Amino acid sequence: MTTHADDLAARIGAPVELAGIAVRRPGRVREGVPAELVTTDATALVKRGDIDVVVEVIGGIEPARSLITTSFDHGASVVSANKALVAQEGAALHAAAERRGADLYYEAAVAGAIPLVRPLRESLAGDKVNRVLGIVNGTTNFILDRMDGSGAGYSEALDEATALGYAEADPTADVEGFDAAAKAAILAGIAFHTRVTLDDVHREGITEVTAADIASAKRMGCTVKLLAICERAADGRSVTARVHPAMIPLSHPLASVREAYNAVFVEADAAGQLMFYGPGAGGSPTASAVLGDLVAACRNKLAGATGPGESAYSRLPVSPMGDVITRYHISLDVADKPGVLAQVATVFAEHGVSIDTVRQQGKDGEASLVVVTHRASDAALSATVEALRRLDTVRDVASIMRVEGEERPGNGPAETHQRVSGE
Ligand code: HSE
Repeated sequence: MTTHADDLAARIGAPVELAGIAVRRPGRVREGVPAELVTTDATALVKRGDIDVVVEVIGGIEPARSLITTSFDHGASVVSANKALVAQEGAALHAAAERRGADLYYEAAVAGAIPLVRPLRESLAGDKVNRVLGIVNGTTNFILDRMDGSGAGYSEALDEATALGYAEADPTADVEGFDAAAKAAILAGIAFHTRVTLDDVHREGITEVTAADIASAKRMGCTVKLLAICERAADGRSVTARVHPAMIPLSHPLASVREAYNAVFVEADAAGQLMFYGPGAGGSPTASAVLGDLVAACRNKLAGATGPGESAYSRLPVSPMGDVITRYHISLDVADKPGVLAQVATVFAEHGVSIDTVRQQGKDGEASLVVVTHRASDAALSATVEALRRLDTVRDVASIMRVEGEERPGNGPAETHQRVSGE
């Protein structure tokens, strides 16, 4: 604690002393870091026994997992920024912390500086959260924002994001949705008081989003965002968690989240709709979240108490993606001849998927057809698309995108579909 030391001491009630810093490359120049505190032996550092709080910002599963559990074993609380580890091993880590009367905090693991974990774990502990919907990956939001703004294709926008330092040399974790899925797992688990791991989250990235999809979204008064959506089922008996690109209306507040910013909507019974917005990545925003957790962990140590542990008492199962109900935008390339539209409409009807709008543009015996549906289950939509692909007159199902960000209707086509699929 070489800066803000007095402020931190005043807020905690005791001074914080920096005991050591474990690094991989000790030779690197680190301004403001006392050289005598730097070590390459992280295990020895966390085993010292006189450490109250360990801050883990390594990322990945190992050695972070072993170092965290060793820290608990030696009496330290842990502040982590490690979304992958918490999403995969959160339950085991919480259990290890609880056994040792230690804290595990990880505000920085989800959406950088934006307070989300603490509001969900603590501020909303008396409410019932039904939905968490948001943009939790800045890199992909930057790319989609560029595609929307300039009409650029995915590769061109990715190149720009890389050149500006928003995308890493290997952008897989961001563009394939792994980063957002880990955050969705953490948010869903906390929001619904149940266990949700990375494997429970349906994940689709943005690599297949085309300039044509963005143009089509614009024609509908929408834009395309990579969304993380965690929902409690209408009957309250299960939850879903998913990450995928989706069209959202321009009137939705998430549509105006530009560049690499993050924003998350939380919908709760009593609180109503809450929106959290801010920088979701970067050194300073991450440091802000880490230090907030550090202050909390230190205060607890002084008080001889611990903060909230894992809350998974509701034991709600995570339903598969097929159970998710939403609207869809489907682009088809079809033969432009009599009866084709009727054939396509029949396939939708046979699967209980109600069509909202159809737009057709014909050229030289071929036509492109854009169908927007009412709400239907993902399973019904998948079966519809499979059947469409089998039609001789359908040359290609060019794209399928979910349409989100509209109110959950109490009545209407979704219920019609549910009756059909329940028969
Ligand atoms: N790479 C992430 C993003 C930040 O682009 O939002 C770290 O989770």
